[in-house]
Amino acid sequence: MLLLKGIINTSICSWLLVCGGCMMASDVEDVDTDNVTSTDVEVGVTDLSKTIPVTNDSFVCLKKMYPVRGFFVANLLGRLDDTVSAAMSQEGATYPPGSVVQLIPAEAMIKHHKGWNTKTNDWEFFELNVSEEGSEIKVRGTTQVVNKFGGNCFECHQKAEPQWDLICEDNHGCDSLPIPDFVIRWTQRGDPRCD
Ligand code: HEC
Repeated sequence: MLLLKGIINTSICSWLLVCGGCMMASDVEDVDTDNVTSTDVEVGVTDLSKTIPVTNDSFVCLKKMYPVRGFFVANLLGRLDDTVSAAMSQEGATYPPGSVVQLIPAEAMIKHHKGWNTKTNDWEFFELNVSEEGSEIKVRGTTQVVNKFGGNCFECHQKAEPQWDLICEDNHGCDSLPIPDFVIRWTQRGDPRCD
């Protein structure tokens, strides 16, 4: 019985992941993505002049990003080397501005300039709708963004030990995701944005 429950739960999780954003699309206020400005992300923002512009086109197929262990990185300001070296640091490091980090196609973190939001270490959290046409920003923000399982991105990611700059991986101190590893890998391989 327990095993059966486990299997059912896992299938629901997989379905949620495959379905991506469509599940909750109707519950969430649409973002005008053609005209995303810094005022859309006011909550918790301390200094809007430190904003890096982010649009739907800032997000690409995971295979076009740089793979680091189980996740993927890029840099919107052309500083990929700095982002990779932060990600590879054994002692932990602060990610440079412009860093994009993704584990699965539908969720992302982007680093703004220093001082943008001291509470989130200048990270902004995103939920995306992804399809063959590309990415669409569904929800974005600092401390208030919630994922499909009802978990608050910031609240969970801030549990990472300070040297890891809110990056969880599987051993930095965050609570675990309610999805098994094989489902994560499967979702990564199935990114609909890739050719
Ligand atoms: C319950 C805790 C929890 C919540 C809520 C959560 N995450 Fe995570 N997240 C994790 C864990 C744990 C990992 C690492 C998983 C792994 O490597 O196997 C992770 C990985 C990531 C990564 C890859 C880099 C890293 O930190 O390892 C990104 C990017 C990310 N999550 C973004 C988000 C976004 C955006 C949201 C909200 C929409 C969110 N997460 C909600 C726990 C959480």
